[in-house]
Amino acid sequence: MKTKRIKEAYPMDLLLLADPSRKLIEQYIQRGECYIAEKNSETIGVYVLLPTRPKTVELVNIAVAEQYQGKGIGKALVLDAIEKAKQQGYKLIEVGTGNSSIGQLALYQKCGFRITGVDKDFFTIHYEEEIVENGIICVDMIRLARQL
Ligand code: COA
Repeated sequence: MKTKRIKEAYPMDLLLLADPSRKLIEQYIQRGECYIAEKNSETIGVYVLLPTRPKTVELVNIAVAEQYQGKGIGKALVLDAIEKAKQQGYKLIEVGTGNSSIGQLALYQKCGFRITGVDKDFFTIHYEEEIVENGIICVDMIRLARQL
């Protein structure tokens, strides 16, 4: 998957699919690098690489436009993020997702991430609205990481 880095005109509609908090998204895109995938000049995918600690980067705000989901684009974006992080000399890539995000947990593990921990009550603390997915209330953040 070919992606390109952008420094303006961020696809907010797509970014909001991955994270309902506009405030958090704005912080992430300021501190990180935003990459997009396009098809016929339409933005169909996005992710942000956020440096967190020395040699460590976090994959945040990954999203695929709804009509393009389930076609392998999300997986290609995760693999692209891994490649970019490697090229930039990072040694570890991390990602976090909700306890209710079953598909995302599958996707990250299929891309070589392993669960490293649980950030308990992350979603109850940081989000005002209750999040429910797959009939499960989202309360904890599952942390995953992959060596590069
Ligand atoms: N059980 C097992 N595997 C599952 C699954 C489930 N319930 N749901 C998804 N998967 C697997 C798919 O089978 C696929 O693996 P495969 O290639 O081995 O078949 C993999 O996960 C990803 O599929 P893909 O088509 O590449 O995903 P996508 O293009 O739909 O993108 C998201 C995935 C999450 C980026 C996309 O659905 C999205 O934008 N969601 C909304 C935003 C979001 O939740 N972002 C993540 C925040 S943590």
